[in-house]
Amino acid sequence: MLLPYYFYLMELTGTGFIMRPWQLDDALSLQQHANNFNVSAYLLDRFPFPYTLPDAVSWLNSQLQNSGPISNFAITIDGKAIGGIGLEFRHDVYRKTALIGYWLSEAYWGRGIMLEAVRLMTDYAFANLDLICIQAGVLSANPKSMRVLEKAGYEKQGVLRKCIVKRDEVMDEHVYAAFKA
Ligand SMILES: CC(C)(COP(=O)(O)OP(=O)(O)OC[C@H]1O[C@@H](n2cnc3c(N)ncnc32)[C@H](O)[C@@H]1OP(=O)(O)O)[C@@H](O)C(=O)NCCC(=O)NCCS
Repeated sequence: MLLPYYFYLMELTGTGFIMRPWQLDDALSLQQHANNFNVSAYLLDRFPFPYTLPDAVSWLNSQLQNSGPISNFAITIDGKAIGGIGLEFRHDVYRKTALIGYWLSEAYWGRGIMLEAVRLMTDYAFANLDLICIQAGVLSANPKSMRVLEKAGYEKQGVLRKCIVKRDEVMDEHVYAAFKA
């Protein structure tokens, strides 16, 4: 499917950072910032630790093969990728719902970057994609991420008890959601 050119040029501008589609030359920067136990601690296991250069290249290749609208953005400062935010589209009766996920290099935590990135991504998604709901699943041990979502206007839909095993520890999943106005 050939998409309108503006999807490929899409940039979302935050305070001191830019969100743009991933590029193959992000590999080194991605590997350096993603390769951190603390970053991976509450993410899905498919975000590995250690995070190797082949892991980075594999992720970037998957993004270059995407023929749909942009749904994953690199968060960049001075052109370097220092984090990521993206949507995974659900299917069947959930087809107008997507799951949001995000991570930031530990060197940039505590500056409000992700709060602004989540707001930008949510606005972009409801304005450009055929969605009525964006959900986020947060591990119970990650209150910082819950705070980000709450400040970005997401509401807690519920807690799915004891459905997650992360590094041998059983955790709850806190499900948050934002809705199209
Ligand atoms: C979660 C993450 C994205 C947060 O991004 P960030 O830009 O560093 O967010 P901040 O550090 O500004 O923290 C956001 C809020 O959480 C609050 N917070 C920090 N630690 C907290 C804690 N232990 N309990 C509750 N709130 C906490 C902060 O005070 C801040 O709220 P405030 O602005 O009202 O003060 C970032 O830490 C990260 O990438 N973590 C690893 C990947 C990850 O867990 N992703 C989310 C998966 S659901």
